[in-house]
Amino acid sequence: MAYDPPSDVMIYDTTLRDGEQTPGVTITTDEKIVVADKLDKLGVDVIELGFPAASPGEQKTFKEAAKIGFNAQISGLARALPVDIDKAIDSDADYIHTFIGTSPLHRDYKLKMTKEQILEKAVTAVEYIKDHGITAEFSCEDATRTELDYLKEVFGAVQEAKVDKINVPDTVGVTIPIKMNQLISDLREVITVPISVHCHNDFGLAVANSLAAIEAGAKQAQCTINGLGERAGNASLEEIVMTLKKVYGINTNINTELLYNTSETVSRISGVKMPPNKAIIGENAFAHEAGIHVQGVLANSDTYEAFKPEEVGHKRRIVLGKLTGANAIKSKLDEYNINLDEEQFDQLFTKVKALGDSGKTITDVDFRSLAESIQGKPTEERIKLLGISVMTGDNTLPTASVKLEINDEIKSCAQIGVGPVDAALTAIQSLIKEVVDIKLEEYHIEAITGGTNALGEVIVKTVDEEGNKVTGRSTDEDIVKASVDAIISSVNKLLMLRD
Ligand code: KIV
Ligand code: ZN
Repeated sequence: MAYDPPSDVMIYDTTLRDGEQTPGVTITTDEKIVVADKLDKLGVDVIELGFPAASPGEQKTFKEAAKIGFNAQISGLARALPVDIDKAIDSDADYIHTFIGTSPLHRDYKLKMTKEQILEKAVTAVEYIKDHGITAEFSCEDATRTELDYLKEVFGAVQEAKVDKINVPDTVGVTIPIKMNQLISDLREVITVPISVHCHNDFGLAVANSLAAIEAGAKQAQCTINGLGERAGNASLEEIVMTLKKVYGINTNINTELLYNTSETVSRISGVKMPPNKAIIGENAFAHEAGIHVQGVLANSDTYEAFKPEEVGHKRRIVLGKLTGANAIKSKLDEYNINLDEEQFDQLFTKVKALGDSGKTITDVDFRSLAESIQGKPTEERIKLLGISVMTGDNTLPTASVKLEINDEIKSCAQIGVGPVDAALTAIQSLIKEVVDIKLEEYHIEAITGGTNALGEVIVKTVDEEGNKVTGRSTDEDIVKASVDAIISSVNKLLMLRD
């Protein structure tokens, strides 16, 4: 494999053209301008804003962009046809990326043209663009499935016609790094203008193939934010840029701290959500759960991170689950300024592990609510819940059986109610009435995060016969249990008040 990379690589962003070809994605003029502004601030060298010949809307977008005057060059895609090129020129594009298919498949089935006819179209298109004083980039579509001799011939001919850059697309993502590296080395034998590469991700190799091209001397990568693009997408800009920066030590003009924010904007506007494990910008890209990892990261983040999240504008997250260690819990408590005594800490630790074992990941809000409800529990528990079971459903009277320890005495009863929470409250009231007579003044329940397995947070306000009012709070994946715990917590507080 050749290793002759440039010291600087240009970033040609095609989020708003190939990225818009993501199935199901359309981006309006206003949205394109918002994204273009982000890309411009991000520092991309070229923004491929769209395909002017496709629609009047596309032409309007180019005109708007020209009025704004971005720092990046604004490129329009055009088939190697004067009609397309004219639309790009009339739309005030300052850069035209023209292309024609060159592989046997494209020649025979799509274009039904001979090699000579295609070569002639390519040269004419480039000459036409250059005659208008506009920057020209030329692509042999499906280059990686084109015969090498013919590819050299076409690229050589457009170079003679004064093209500014040539681009090598792996249109259906079928090449592999070693072949891409060789192809760029072979093309460098005849090409002296900068070589660009455009890789699709059909086999998940788009970034690897782009990097292999750069290793062989390609000076530009065409790529998209979040790897959007036709079918399985294009090479992801954030992955290429960060690998160049951190692994190869190769520069780009990208302000990497803006990557996360740009990715979020593109995700929101395109409607394409990123998987949590997406490299660089995924929600898990800097998340740590395993106790050993968390301990390492808290001591020195380099132990388990390739680079610091701030470098891409992201955030480190300590995720709690069954693999969580005490260090992670301590660090989260510090983060939220929650002080727990040893016993409360043990309760929280046991609860986090139990929730993790039941398959739940505990979000930051879940954690805070759990910790605060444990912190808010009365220190003295004269009434303890020993067990609860509820029965509810169609044609069944909601019934709750509750077992309590009240002042060291065990008592139980079953009651009906309008629902399971009401039945449980009635059962508690009847069990404790000799000690205290309570009324429920307020009851709030909230699912902390979305999903049917979300933790429920219950906050109650209870009042006793003397008019004392207290709140109780609890968090649990079972909302009846959370309700009962919150009520019992409030009753214990009332008893402490009366002592
Ligand atoms: O994938 C491709 O071949 C393209 C060309 C238009 C460059 O997107
Ligand atoms: Zn493409």
